[in-house]
Amino acid sequence: MYIMSSIVAENYNSKAVVNLWPDFIDWSKRRQGENGFLKKTLEKNKVNSVFDSCLGDGCDSIYLLKEGFDVTSNDFDLEFIKKAQENARKENVKLNISSFDWRELGRHYDKESFDAVLCLGNSLTYLFCKKDQLNTLRQFYKILKKDGILVIDERNYQYFLDEKDEILKGNFRYSGKFVYCGKKVHAYPIKIEKNRVVMEYSDKNKKNKGNLVLYPFRRNEMKKLLAEAGFKKIQQFSDYKKEFNPDADFYIYVCRK
Ligand SMILES: C[S@@+](CC[C@H](N)C(=O)[O-])C[C@H]1O[C@@H](n2cnc3c(N)ncnc32)[C@H](O)[C@@H]1O
Repeated sequence: MYIMSSIVAENYNSKAVVNLWPDFIDWSKRRQGENGFLKKTLEKNKVNSVFDSCLGDGCDSIYLLKEGFDVTSNDFDLEFIKKAQENARKENVKLNISSFDWRELGRHYDKESFDAVLCLGNSLTYLFCKKDQLNTLRQFYKILKKDGILVIDERNYQYFLDEKDEILKGNFRYSGKFVYCGKKVHAYPIKIEKNRVVMEYSDKNKKNKGNLVLYPFRRNEMKKLLAEAGFKKIQQFSDYKKEFNPDADFYIYVCRK
């Protein structure tokens, strides 16, 4: 049974986006791209219980369940939950699902419930105002045990903002090696503004298409929010390497409570 959130979301995933998602991320290529980063990070931090805050199509939750972690999977989108359940059946695993909006997690989970919280696949970008972003990070902080970790990522939106004109002319630089790795479905920015980016997702022959409107974090903006939410030690990785690379596709943060 799902208990639905009372907050009205401003950004829904269309059915088209949900159906394109598995081919957009390519599960096995995502694992190749991160090369054990997630599992090693969780093991190094002695994590057992994981709260995957944004289940999506189940790619990371199903992988971690198979690796023996105790995973609770959350998403506020019932279409994505259905897709994840379909995938879990195929993969012979059982998901433990909740359907709460991040902004009210603390009302549904006790303080200090999990060893790790995941917010992966460039997800915080679904929220547009600082108040909601910060509130979400504070909810994650609250449900983490003492010394627990948040693993969160973001796209390199600074590149989108800096190279807007070139990108909109069709010269979009993207390696396709990390996080979103599929070859059958691609995503291109079709609008880039200071406070919103519109991404178009389509398969090769453009038969199936969907859009998402996302918030483009500026360089260091997410890092500052993480500190403001109370996280003490924040380690930044660029495409999973422990360095700062201005040309990376993704930044990943491992943050300790
Ligand atoms: C970009 S997708 C990433 C999905 C998955 N984690 C991955 O890596 O492929 C973002 C996910 O976050 C979920 N989401 C967005 N805002 C949310 C919120 N406020 N509360 C709960 N889930 C949310 C969306 O429904 C969607 O499934």
